[in-house]
Amino acid sequence: MFPIIDLFAGPGGLNEGFSSVRDERGAYVFKTLASFEMDSLACQTLRLRATYRELVRSGGDLRPYFDYIEGKQTWQSVLTGDFKEAYLAAKTHVYQVELGEDNRPEVDNFIERQLGPENERGHWALIGGPPCQAYSLAGRSRRTGDESFASDHKHFLYREYLHILGKFKPTIFVMENVKGLLSSRNGDSSMFQTILEDLKRLPGGASYEIRSLVVDAEPRELDPSDFIIRSEEYGVPQKRHRVILLGVRSDVAGRLPRSSLKRADGPVTVRAALQTMPSVRAKTSKRRPKIDQDWVAVQNKALDSVRRMDSVSKHEPLKAGTLAMDEYEAWIHEASLSAPIQHDPRPHMVSDLARYRVMAELAERLGKSPKYTDLPVSLHPEHSNVGRERTPFTDRFRVQVWDTPATTVVSHISKDGHYYIHPDPQQNRSFTVREAARLQSFPDNYFFEGARTQQFHQVGNAVPPLLSKQIGDVVADMLGAL
Ligand SMILES: C[S@@+](CC[C@H](N)C(=O)[O-])C[C@H]1O[C@@H](n2cnc3c(N)ncnc32)[C@H](O)[C@@H]1O
Repeated sequence: MFPIIDLFAGPGGLNEGFSSVRDERGAYVFKTLASFEMDSLACQTLRLRATYRELVRSGGDLRPYFDYIEGKQTWQSVLTGDFKEAYLAAKTHVYQVELGEDNRPEVDNFIERQLGPENERGHWALIGGPPCQAYSLAGRSRRTGDESFASDHKHFLYREYLHILGKFKPTIFVMENVKGLLSSRNGDSSMFQTILEDLKRLPGGASYEIRSLVVDAEPRELDPSDFIIRSEEYGVPQKRHRVILLGVRSDVAGRLPRSSLKRADGPVTVRAALQTMPSVRAKTSKRRPKIDQDWVAVQNKALDSVRRMDSVSKHEPLKAGTLAMDEYEAWIHEASLSAPIQHDPRPHMVSDLARYRVMAELAERLGKSPKYTDLPVSLHPEHSNVGRERTPFTDRFRVQVWDTPATTVVSHISKDGHYYIHPDPQQNRSFTVREAARLQSFPDNYFFEGARTQQFHQVGNAVPPLLSKQIGDVVADMLGAL
């Protein structure tokens, strides 16, 4: 098995894909030696998932795992026997730490220990993505005019990644980041070019050939946009576009042919991702004595306004990829669960429920999300900042329509429920954690620790595991050829 080390590991989306890669005999190809992450709940998620993998790989009893994630047993009561043994083995490689200059010695020591003596190390891969808020378009727009932005240490966390590349010289690395990295500037220089330049001058003299996973061209002919991976082209039901660099150590690059991801035969739609989820209805956030009357009044008001609207043109559904859908379903499916986990909707304000209902009804007719201005004025919010805020109010509400992939599931999805309105008007709510996880292509048996807000945060942070599985396949073929 080829070792992998995962930096800024989040809830483990990237790791999940790599960990699922098997060779033609069915044997697992990668083994995680270390995952570094500073968030304690993401670390708990990583430990639990590592325990699950340990049980799967060792043929241990999986019942306690399912009992725990289904809420049938507490952590304490399942922590015995096979499960405990797997947990103790798994947890040792999840290291909670804030990566940064101050902590380099302890991180380096840990990696040193995990990789073993230098002269006995074989080929291995470094994976991970330095945090992206500083580069993301959303992060930048929130901080326009903020002078501390240029010196934000998050701009430079990629140097921790580079430090480990230089010191430990993995055979291959995979570095993921947001698309905003390509247009992000630090003073006069482009962040992306700075990172590429820094990659050429690694400490310790290591050097890497930087390849694209989607464009088959000589590295010197590559354009920055050639590093953008559009998840929806690879069977993920979500238009998540990310910059991913594949680095191949120069001394082996000549022996490794370039290899790209294979596009799916068509998109996987929101419908394909969500149609098997049981319908659930949101509760209202305010405790009111006459909750049922509220609900009925809201429904009637919303329906009335839809009926008064002229009919809207019919939309031709997108032709989905048959093979891609089959692959997606097989990937997320878990027969051992009696019902989907983490699928309880957030409570909503009664007024928002009415808006969601109308928007979802309209989206069904349009085949795309309606504009907020399509709502009857009686359903507009009363506060006065409509039209004044930087985010145009017309874009504040978005229905994720059935017959296309969803828009990007972001880490602040917990605060942006308006942006993830369920397409079924009867359900009248925003997405649950499990639905967001499905759009991210997390298998149904993947459990996120913490309260709902933290669960959403972890889901939105991750690399879609189904995409990372395909990247893992490419890396496995390359390492296998050496
Ligand atoms: C975009 S997420 C990574 C997602 C991950 N690659 C996946 O596929 O699930 C970035 C993660 O970096 C973590 N992080 C941010 N700054 C960090 C630091 N200095 N040290 C360690 N982890 C950090 C955040 O808590 C977050 O979970």
